[in-house]
Amino acid sequence: MKYDFDFETQRKNTNSLKWDEVDSKYPLWVADMDFKTAPEITEGYLKRIKEGIFGYNVLNDKFYDSYIDWWDKYHHFKMEKDWIIFSTGVVPSISSAVRSLTKIGDNVVILTPVYNIFFNSIRNNKRIILESPLKYENYQYEIDFDDLEQKLSLEKTSLLIFCNPHNPIGKIWTKDELIKVGNLCKKHNVTVISDEIHCDIVRPGYEYIPFASVSDINKDISVTLIAPTKCFNLAGMQTSAAVVANKKIKALFERGLNTDECAEGNTLAVITPELAFLKGRPWLNEMNEYVFNNRDIVKEYIEKNLEGLHVIDGNATYLAWVDLNGINSKALRDFIYKEVDVYLADGLAYGKTGEGFLRINLATTKKRILEALELIKKAYDKFIENNK
Ligand SMILES: Cc1ncc(COP(=O)(O)O)c(C=O)c1O
Repeated sequence: MKYDFDFETQRKNTNSLKWDEVDSKYPLWVADMDFKTAPEITEGYLKRIKEGIFGYNVLNDKFYDSYIDWWDKYHHFKMEKDWIIFSTGVVPSISSAVRSLTKIGDNVVILTPVYNIFFNSIRNNKRIILESPLKYENYQYEIDFDDLEQKLSLEKTSLLIFCNPHNPIGKIWTKDELIKVGNLCKKHNVTVISDEIHCDIVRPGYEYIPFASVSDINKDISVTLIAPTKCFNLAGMQTSAAVVANKKIKALFERGLNTDECAEGNTLAVITPELAFLKGRPWLNEMNEYVFNNRDIVKEYIEKNLEGLHVIDGNATYLAWVDLNGINSKALRDFIYKEVDVYLADGLAYGKTGEGFLRINLATTKKRILEALELIKKAYDKFIENNK
């Protein structure tokens, strides 16, 4: 490998949410990587910083072209410059879209278990969370299309927030599934926000499919949220893009984003896509190899050594979703933290259907993963013994 993913970065006392918000030697929770980003990206930032002038910014063609070329080349989706809007993040865009595309009291549908912040974006804006639980059988998740249609058909339902690929289950939705979701939303006049922030964290050989790329209907009813931040470990740069082909939706959404003051980027935010997408591909390929190897290690270890537990197969995201076979996830999570200092995410954070699951962040060194696994086993055995 050209890049050193085994290097043990030291992140304590660096204003890191992951390492400084929680006191743990193994904080395997929030979705941020312990790897340094691609050195080519850092060099680009340093060059810009050395200019020593940090006034207000505008976007140049490189911003738009870097998104357009990457999605064309790697995701077979031709976006137009006119569809792309800068935003200070995917979460600010989701919350803003909830405000601009729905009314207070409307239903917003989500497929659960799903990224915890979707719940906040709906609830904080006084809209109603309507969960359509994914069907879960034989350790596999599927969309329950009958349930989804029933919820989309309600008079007060105006928005679906979709996660593609899906955090926390690590699933890449197929073209057929995306078409079906789009057709149902069109039928019931529901707009779709497709959060695609995890798009490029895929098992080597696999590809994610943009929601808007599969049909004219999908393109016409959706706002797609994309960014290089999750995939290149640049979340603190607070930069993303919304892609909206439908002029009417775009006008509403863009007006809202401006009103919310999320539409202007800082000096490093506006050059981030250009640096990541033009220079980061070799690093990204190796990062994916590394984290999917970690995923395989975790699955094999847990299923061999922690009797009854099962790691859901996932070909996207660096997050492992573990079925605890009926064990209370909060109790086990807290016990593991107290006993052996490994901090995991409780599945309940992702909705009621996440109860009984834990989420493990795999984007750290293999050494740390192996040490954490040994510690988790030690605590798990004790937990089982204590609860016999
Ligand atoms: C599905 C999903 N969307 C959005 C975000 C955060 O996006 P941003 O940092 O651009 O606000 C995350 C972070 O974990 C995520 O998992």
